[in-house]
Amino acid sequence: MTSKIIPVEPFDYVIFGGTGDLAQRKLLPALYHRDHDGQLPDDARMIGASRGDLSREDYQKIAHDALREHVSEEHRSEESLQRFLNRLDYVRIDATSDGGWDNLQACLEKSTPGKIRAFYLAVGPTLFGSISERLNRFGLVDDNSRVVIEKPLGRDLDSAQKLNSEVGQYFGEKQVFRIDHYLGKETVQNLLALRFANALFEPLWNSSHIDHVQITVAETVGVGDRVGYYNKSGAMRDMVQNHLMQLLCLVAMEAPASADADSIRDEKLKVLRSLKPIPAENTVRAQYHAGAGPDGKVDGYLNELGEDSDTATFVALKAEVENWRWSGVPFYLRTGKRMAMRMSEIVIQFKPVPYSIFGKDAGAPISNRLVLRLQPDESVKQWIMIKDPGPGGMRLKHLPLDMSFAENFEHRSPDAYERLLLDVIRGNQTLFMRRDEVEEAWKWIDPIFEAWEETSHPVSNYTAGTWGPSQSIALIERDHRTWNDGDQ
Ligand code: BG6
Repeated sequence: MTSKIIPVEPFDYVIFGGTGDLAQRKLLPALYHRDHDGQLPDDARMIGASRGDLSREDYQKIAHDALREHVSEEHRSEESLQRFLNRLDYVRIDATSDGGWDNLQACLEKSTPGKIRAFYLAVGPTLFGSISERLNRFGLVDDNSRVVIEKPLGRDLDSAQKLNSEVGQYFGEKQVFRIDHYLGKETVQNLLALRFANALFEPLWNSSHIDHVQITVAETVGVGDRVGYYNKSGAMRDMVQNHLMQLLCLVAMEAPASADADSIRDEKLKVLRSLKPIPAENTVRAQYHAGAGPDGKVDGYLNELGEDSDTATFVALKAEVENWRWSGVPFYLRTGKRMAMRMSEIVIQFKPVPYSIFGKDAGAPISNRLVLRLQPDESVKQWIMIKDPGPGGMRLKHLPLDMSFAENFEHRSPDAYERLLLDVIRGNQTLFMRRDEVEEAWKWIDPIFEAWEETSHPVSNYTAGTWGPSQSIALIERDHRTWNDGDQ
């Protein structure tokens, strides 16, 4: 079963930070895959922009190396690589002065007027304002222009508002695409399909039938060479304020009037507004100590950083959505670096049957759970009780109705950026965060930082290669529940 490929309109994608890590690891490979699948029209161009003194050929060489590293061999042929590289151009530009902007002007003037222009700002947020201002001043912004920005979108409400205003001065909200790459993941989009293209779940999707929800994003990697950025952000700003809260919104939101961007974003916003302020005792923050990584022994966070810090590499929260649908249903969120396995999933834990008619030999019925695995091995599993086959009488067994994507769909699961980068060209903002969503999320997060300061809430420790600190286990077990550590 292969999906239908619909080409997008011609475009010029200008990638500021065109030689950087994000461009090489994600953006160029994603655009390459779309080209490889025949989705890019003949006159689609990608223009790398950065400070380096490079020729077009130098840039093509950088891109070539990046594609060889980040695209698997089975999806590469010299012919398709060459076709993609021919689409690339390069301009040397200084985002902090007027230097080189006429080069970009000249490069874009080669295109037919009215062609879609997307500016991907794969640079630090301190440059978002000055780049937007220059794009405007150099006459590069028109109705067909879009700007793509990615976190950190502020470090608190004030800075997020400032950032949004800086960009918003030159681009209308319909032109601003705030990426949260989790929204482009297949299973995340599947959550929308599951909830709103099936009649089965909706009647059960509320506090009468759901006991609690767990959202886990566990990584085995440490902070590596991003330690400078990471130490200013920590797990809360790096993962919770955006990825985990977006997942929570998609689980908790009401059925939107339609699948259009604003209908969905209006519903997500209502969830964010319904979040109950969270006391420090419903939070855990921690740092990893030396322990085990995927390839052997690893250092602790402070050793990697080389100084003292109370930045958390792990956060667990017990959140509550105060509305009619969810009142009384806790949402347990946790995320961390250097955990026992790489695993992101959403668990919807249903309530137990009211009474078991079966004798004790059958075993007690285990409550149903729906597990959406985002990675690795994307899947949706609905765990149910069935009778263990055989003549030995009634014995109950807990087994999943299993929809593992790799087994059910032949085609490669696309990287989130493939979908998102072309949604920018399509002008479809459904999987992007609206300004008010980002700001509302900060309104909930900021008081958590304040509570940590005011109460001197301790930073706990966990050994690298484990499921986090004991306090995280206690956070859920004191409610007589347990984390689903990737076992079901
Ligand atoms: C990024 C964070 O947004 O998401 C990283 O900045 C994190 O710290 C990454 O590693 C995780 O993304 P994924 O797609 O690998 O789960």
